[in-house]
Amino acid sequence: MRKKIVAGNWKMNLSLQEGVALANDLKAALAAETPNCDVVICTPFIHLATLAAVTEGTVIGLGAENCADKEKGAYTGEVSASQVKSTGAQYVILGHSERRAYYHETAEILKAKLHLALDNGLKVIFCIGEVLEEREAGKQNEVVARQLADSLFDLTAEQLKNVVLAYEPVWAIGTGKTATAEQAEDMHAFIRGVMAGRFGEPAAEELSILYGGSCKPSNAKEIFSKPDVDGGLIGGASLKCADFKGIIDAWK
Ligand code: PGA
Repeated sequence: MRKKIVAGNWKMNLSLQEGVALANDLKAALAAETPNCDVVICTPFIHLATLAAVTEGTVIGLGAENCADKEKGAYTGEVSASQVKSTGAQYVILGHSERRAYYHETAEILKAKLHLALDNGLKVIFCIGEVLEEREAGKQNEVVARQLADSLFDLTAEQLKNVVLAYEPVWAIGTGKTATAEQAEDMHAFIRGVMAGRFGEPAAEELSILYGGSCKPSNAKEIFSKPDVDGGLIGGASLKCADFKGIIDAWK
């Protein structure tokens, strides 16, 4: 059985103090009621070391939202995969559409980040997804297949065990416009098929594929009910404990 996961992506929000308060609220809410899925929060780098202490020994996993494409050295302002790991975090998000679009992260750059993250013992939440024009042109499958091939196909099946995919149609991120459960399922099944073609059926069956894009308590249950949807990557709704918990509860 593959893992069900609800992961938060805080993006560039919350002061250190606000982040600690939110993590403590979540810790209390999940201690009161054990979730039926894995729970991860991915936060700005500045929160990680402090939140590692808050989340230690709880069901909450911790991750960064990015890491450098270089191992170490004179790269002012960058944070390496080994530095992320040294905070106590276990995950890193890579390939988010905001990083691809605003920071020009290419498939080659993402491949370098992916290998460094895995080599340093991090689990990777790797994001893929098409923009609106690509969907309107009916090219979403082609685009996503290329994103998968360009960054993931040279992994070994063993490395793939530490990768979770997140399908995030760019037109649904932060827009309030969610993909329908059918659109999500169609794409997730397609992604699983592409991964099966490269890594074989058993590896693809083990791979968790999350949906992301305006996921909220009110739509999570329907989206998560689809057979190839294994959870969500949650932006806006991960910033309020009640909303995030509401999405986690979709697995009840
Ligand atoms: P959203 O963001 O839930 O605010 O749409 C999702 C994401 O970007 O991971």
